[in-house]
Amino acid sequence: MSRQAVGAPLSRVDGRPKVTGQAMYAADHPANGVVHAAIVGSTVARGRITGIDARAALAVSGVLKVISHSNAPKLAYRPNPSSNNPEGGERLHVFQDDKVLFHGQPVAVVVAATPEAAQHGASLVEVRYDAEKPSTDLTGTPANAPVTYARGDADQAMQSAAVRLEMTYRTARNHHNAMEPHATIARWDGNRLTVWDKTQWVVGTQKELAAVFGIEQDAVRVISPFVGGAFGSGLRAWPHVTIAALAAREMGRPVKLVLTRKQLYSGTGYRPAYEYHLRLASDRRGRLTAMVHDIKAETSSYENFEEGVLVAGQMLYSMPHVRQAYRTVRLDVNTPLYMRGPGHATAAFAIESALDELAHALDVDPIELRRRNEPAEDESNGTPFSTRRLRECYTVGAREFGWDRRAPKPRSTRDGDWLIGIGMAAGVHTTRRNPAQARVRLDARGIALVEAATSDMGPGTCTSMTQVAADALGLTVRAVDFRLGDSTMPPTPAHGGSQTMASVGSAVQDGCDKLRRQAIELTVADERSPLHGVDAGDVAVTDGRLHVKHDPARGETYQQLLARNNRSHLETLGSFAPGEPRFSMYAYGATFAEVAVDHRLGLVRVRRMLGVYDVGRIISPKLADSQALGGMVGGIGTALLEHTVTDHRDGRIVNANLADYLVPVNADVPHLRAIYLDGEDREANPIGVKGLGEVVHVGVAPAIANAVFHATGRRIRGLPITAEALL
Ligand code: MOS
Repeated sequence: MSRQAVGAPLSRVDGRPKVTGQAMYAADHPANGVVHAAIVGSTVARGRITGIDARAALAVSGVLKVISHSNAPKLAYRPNPSSNNPEGGERLHVFQDDKVLFHGQPVAVVVAATPEAAQHGASLVEVRYDAEKPSTDLTGTPANAPVTYARGDADQAMQSAAVRLEMTYRTARNHHNAMEPHATIARWDGNRLTVWDKTQWVVGTQKELAAVFGIEQDAVRVISPFVGGAFGSGLRAWPHVTIAALAAREMGRPVKLVLTRKQLYSGTGYRPAYEYHLRLASDRRGRLTAMVHDIKAETSSYENFEEGVLVAGQMLYSMPHVRQAYRTVRLDVNTPLYMRGPGHATAAFAIESALDELAHALDVDPIELRRRNEPAEDESNGTPFSTRRLRECYTVGAREFGWDRRAPKPRSTRDGDWLIGIGMAAGVHTTRRNPAQARVRLDARGIALVEAATSDMGPGTCTSMTQVAADALGLTVRAVDFRLGDSTMPPTPAHGGSQTMASVGSAVQDGCDKLRRQAIELTVADERSPLHGVDAGDVAVTDGRLHVKHDPARGETYQQLLARNNRSHLETLGSFAPGEPRFSMYAYGATFAEVAVDHRLGLVRVRRMLGVYDVGRIISPKLADSQALGGMVGGIGTALLEHTVTDHRDGRIVNANLADYLVPVNADVPHLRAIYLDGEDREANPIGVKGLGEVVHVGVAPAIANAVFHATGRRIRGLPITAEALL
């Protein structure tokens, strides 16, 4: 008997090509006759272009063309209802007029024979502006009409509460800063467009390019077999993708466009900065009665970006009265986008810090306080939870982290110059599911090719899907070849929001189940088969061999079955479509952190961290650890280091590089551990998963902030928590 592949600690099936340089990232693809493009970014944040002088650029040897609004063709820019922006028609229209909407906005592109000539040429394009004073500061800029939610009468409940707290939390803008920069190679063959792109969603980029150029979706092919990290930045097609395609059409040659590190800060999205005003009310035992959330977040002048920042406030804790208002503020900046634990992570910093503040005010243990406010159902809509095991996360986490050794009083533990503190926070993330398909083709060698137009930005999609397919087909993992990242493959949703395993995994399982059943039906109906006449329900497949369940000696291999029937292959199309949700479905976690704070210098060092997760079934434990530990590292960044700084005088990002924008390095990363509660969620999807990657990030920053409070007695309500804030 072969071991089950699902649940086994399989190493990445594509590990070898990744570490040997064989894996092809977007800019690596060879394209015959390719020329190179470099973007010229606006040096003002708001205003109009009054003139473009390309003469010096065109004089550079190798420079072939400079394209800007003054000579670019008009593009169709049809609305794209499937885009991340539900309003569809809005987005930056590149090179269509003289308007400047943010600092770094592409105002021209230089195409040259070499990347060096293109870059040099771009530096020589002279652009004149009629500049206006930009508005880039979240505080003090009028907001849009709010998205609201209310139950009960929160204002009345606040008035009559025994205990009231009121706080304002602030979070900085964060950029994804994946290792691989965004890059696109575009090639036209007549009216057909092929792009090799860094994206988390080949189908989304395909639809967007079709809409921008006014061509059929089928006329666009997007290829993206490997992605060198993305964290959400690849969830939509950014302007440079259009620019590469536009330049390729103008040149009549393939064009390669790679964003510089600096251009990633204005050329792609980011986690928006927030101001989160929170009032809460409770009784003297810490039973919450009301919360009032007033939330402001940045968006661009040309698109309204909103994310799920309201969810946790509605369902994480039990309380009769809630009022929420979420306002976006239109600024002279580029449009934000989802980033690791989007919305939820920001909400958690406010809510989980506030719970810690309440616990301290009432002298109640923070875990005990959370237990007292655990709801019996989803109070936002009255539905039962599919699974919600947050209490177990607390119990296991407290035990494994040594919570009972924590002295309740802040600033009571020292280690030389270091003040030591322990903190925790809950985390929740929506279990997303969307329609997906997967094609399964078993060939005469008994090898299965499984394909879906999904992506792998790092979690190891090929590996986990191989495990699901191997078990469903009764094959070893070596006999499964999973392929992704091509819009000609069966469609899938965006590879983000922790929905890939739930959606694509379920489609893969469905396709493989269908194929296995098809093979079984073929063999039991075949007079020449050793399984002829056996009840199909009594046949299993193990290591590629169909056999009677209780008589393994009686059977035949897939190869024998196909060869005898002169079949080159069997093929099925698997699909998954979520039904109407009857349950409230979320992934949960509890994060524990121990920090040391130098009492003279304000330096914060995370010493150890533990996450305990209720995320349904774990398909691939090694990949899960890579997600969980990686997510914790990202959370350390959000908590202590990451901060995109804008100079509000001119709207310029002043730290648009990895020397000044700090991300965690090895020295910042302590001992990390993840524990997954054993179990599955069959309401969520057929394979029982709730999604892991996003929820990991959610509780990290508040756990660290709460640990910093416990260490120092100082409550820091702004992210990142810097030495300056602590001094
Ligand atoms: Mo994730 S922020 O949906 O890539």
